[in-house]
Parts: sequence; C-alpha cells; structure tokens
Amino acid sequence: MKISIQEAAERLKKGEVVGVPTETVYGLAASLENVDAIKNIFYLKKRPQDNPLIIHISSIEQIYQYVETLPNGFEELATRFWPGPLTLVIPTSKNIPNCVRAGLDTAAFRMPNHEMALKLIDLTGPLVMPSANLSGTPSSTKLEHVENDFGSDFPVIDGSPSMHGIESTILIAKGDKWEIGRLGAISVEELESYLKYKINFISKSSNNPICPGQKYRHYAPKAKIFTGKTIPEECQVVIGFKEKVYEIDKPVLYFGSIDDPMGAGNRLYDLLREIDQNGFSAVWVDLDFPDVDLWKSIRERLLKASNQ
Ligand code: TXA
Ligand code: MG
Repeated sequence: MKISIQEAAERLKKGEVVGVPTETVYGLAASLENVDAIKNIFYLKKRPQDNPLIIHISSIEQIYQYVETLPNGFEELATRFWPGPLTLVIPTSKNIPNCVRAGLDTAAFRMPNHEMALKLIDLTGPLVMPSANLSGTPSSTKLEHVENDFGSDFPVIDGSPSMHGIESTILIAKGDKWEIGRLGAISVEELESYLKYKINFISKSSNNPICPGQKYRHYAPKAKIFTGKTIPEECQVVIGFKEKVYEIDKPVLYFGSIDDPMGAGNRLYDLLREIDQNGFSAVWVDLDFPDVDLWKSIRERLLKASNQ
C-alpha cells in the first residue's frame, strides 16, 4: 500500500514499521528510538536475533550521539562515499539498543543516496533498515516485491525501482584499517583505489563472526539454482546474457548485456523472484561473466542463493 513520506514519518513515530526505498534495495524501517518496533522488524522478517541491523542517517552530525571516538579514516570515507551504498561498522554501543547491535560492541551506519529516504530520516531521525524481504529470500528492489512479501496492505513509500538493486558494501573498522564484511554496490576495486591498500575480507570461518549475516542463507528463491558449466536436464529455465546463444529448448530470461554489470545487478533480485512467480522449480544461471568490480558482488549473491 503506497503511503506518502509524511504518513511514513507519522507511522514511524507511532512505533510502526514501514517499507522505504533506497538506492540499493528497499528497507524495512523502524525508529532507532523504538525498541518494540525494532523487535517487530525481526518478527516480520523472521530474522535471527543475532543478525544486527544497519542504522541509516541523513546527516553526518546524527552519528555523534552514538559514538565516543570515530576510527581512523571514518570521516574521509563518509565524505567521499556518502550518501551512497557504503556501510561502515565501527566500535560503539553508545545510545544504541542491544537488539540493533545483536549484543555486539560495534554498530553499522549508512547514509542512503535516495532523496525520499533522506527526507524521511530528516523528519524521523535515524532509522534501522534491513532489506525488505523475508529472511533468506531475494531482497526487494521495488514496491511490488515488498507487498509480495509482507502483504498488499503493508505501508510502503513508492520510490521507483532501486538504482543499484544490490545491497551496500560493508566495511568493518579493524585497528587502523578497514576490512570487507560484505561485497556490494561499491566495488572493492573502487574502495582499494581510494584507501590505497589491499582490503582483506573478514573471514567466514571465524568462530566469533564479526559480520554475523555471513553465516545465514541469503538471497535464495524457492527454486533450486544451478551454476555449473553445463545446464542440468532438470532446469526448466535459464538466466543469461542477450549476446549469448544457449543451445537449449527452454525459456531464457536475461540479465541484459554482458557489458553492463550495473544493469545485471539491477535485474538480479527481480529475476530470482520472477522464477518463483512463474512456478519454475529449477533454474540454471550463466556465471560465465568477468570476475571484476560489480560482477564479483553479483557472482557472490548467486553462489549464496544457490547455497554454495
Ligand atoms: O543496502 C543495504 O545495506 C540495505 C538497505 C536497506 O540500506 N540494508 C541491508 O540490511 O542490506 P540487511 O539487514 O539486509 O543487511 C545488513 C548486514 C547484515 O549482513 C548484518 O550482519 C551486517 O549488515 N551488520 C549489521 N551490523 C553489523 C555489525 N555491527 N557488525 C558486522 N556486521 C553488521
Ligand atoms: Mg538482507
């Protein structure tokens, strides 16, 4: 159900949860001030409680009430990449409810690059926003996706399809450096060229996961996804690129052009959702695309969705 920014602000102040467009994916928002509303997000999404949430702000000043000291390079990164699809995880717990941080002594912050989201946060103050999908399933990149997951009466601001269609990249402060917690809409190459060092990935096998979201199933439709070199017989449909010829007697859905990673990222969750909507139970996805920039984030999402 479409609502205005004004109505969304009123609902959020009353402790409700609403859908909000961002440039990455749609978010499910609650006020950082309202612990019951935040708990309701976990309930609505069926999200494990040990998976923390990102705090969304609309101005850098809003962050100072939540931190004592900012890590090295924080302000430079924020100035360069905000508003934009970069989430910064820093050591702090000041004024941040435990359920937001999942009990960690760190918190994640991001300033979305979407006019409506920024306007809303100006009215409400900081909002927590996980992606607006049921936990483990493909994220939402348009209003219809949010309504599909949470019902047609669920209040959502309509901000048109998300520009990137892939979640923010997460950087985690580690001593004097930053590490990648999640690949996303800003490429590692772009961050490395800015930071001028090779950025490590937070290890997945760590016993004490610093990026808790890593351990959960992600982005997966109901249909089984195959990504090997050949197309298994059981696949009823293929997702591929328009320049390629797939020698099969099955329908093909297209990411778009192999020269357009932004377009492919943008179509990704829509395609995964379309597979389920059309009742397909097995799909083969062509992973024969470059291993650079945004393509890496797209490949990572597809491998996770296929449970690899
Ligand atoms: O693009 C995005 O980031 C979207 C839009 C709505 O802003 N939001 C999003 O939220 O993707 P969500 O909840 O689907 O993913 C947040 C990720 C999770 O993997 C979580 O584990 C990680 O951020 N995260 C949050 N707080 C963290 C923390 N303190 N330390 C490490 N990872 C954290
Ligand atoms: Mg998510």
